[in-house]
Amino acid sequence: MKKIRFAHLSDTHICKDYSGNQMKDLFEKAGSPGANLEKCLKELERKQLDFVLISGDLVHEGTSEDYRYLNEMVCSCMPTTHVIYVLGNHDRKQAFRAGLQMEPAESSLYYAKEINGLRIIVLDSAVEGKESGYISEEQTEWLEGVLKEKAPRGSIITFHHPVEWEVKELGMQITNRLWDALKNSDVLGIFCGHTHANSLNYLEHIPQITADSMAFGLGIEGAMLSFTDKTGYCLCEINDGRLQVHYETSTPKPAAYVTFELAALQKALQ
Ligand SMILES: [Fe+2]
Repeated sequence: MKKIRFAHLSDTHICKDYSGNQMKDLFEKAGSPGANLEKCLKELERKQLDFVLISGDLVHEGTSEDYRYLNEMVCSCMPTTHVIYVLGNHDRKQAFRAGLQMEPAESSLYYAKEINGLRIIVLDSAVEGKESGYISEEQTEWLEGVLKEKAPRGSIITFHHPVEWEVKELGMQITNRLWDALKNSDVLGIFCGHTHANSLNYLEHIPQITADSMAFGLGIEGAMLSFTDKTGYCLCEINDGRLQVHYETSTPKPAAYVTFELAALQKALQ
């Protein structure tokens, strides 16, 4: 059976114009998120992947115009590759739906889609106005129904906030009910973003993969947090129910340009 090949990108933080944005300096120091992304998407199109998923923080607190700008970039750079968008804490649901002309304007965004026998389950862990994540009971109930039936080549789940992360206050706790739905299912992996750093953790037997950001990196060392110029993504394969993930880093020697105490950030975000 043919391998399923896909890319996992995250935290693109695209804006058509960053002027007036609180984090303008940071994005400028990190280079140009739009140019980095465009280059990456063109490379991915040449790989003829089954799909590309972007696990949230698509746009940095932008408008419907920014989502249109992102989607036009994606469609022109990858005209033959299917893209799956996930929402993060810096996304704005209404602007996303208006930009991509989806309805209704304010409902949360979760669905399942099968591509070449693999079921991709998108959940919405973003709660507007909050840095940390939450998956609603409504989504959990829907997910229980979906996972009752197995997909021909298994399932993957994607949502923005990781369950396993050292900065627990900014991540996400899942309910026992959600874990009960996941643990005996055909889910081969959970794909998240938010950390701006690639990592692999396990929720018992299920791998949780976080991708680097396509805009800027975050490095945590002890009590200190650094913003860095590191960007990257994951190339993934599923073959006979086995998942392989390769981390592709575009900056092999990342440099930090701002470092401060992690506790200060946690306090500021409370
Ligand atoms: Fe982000």
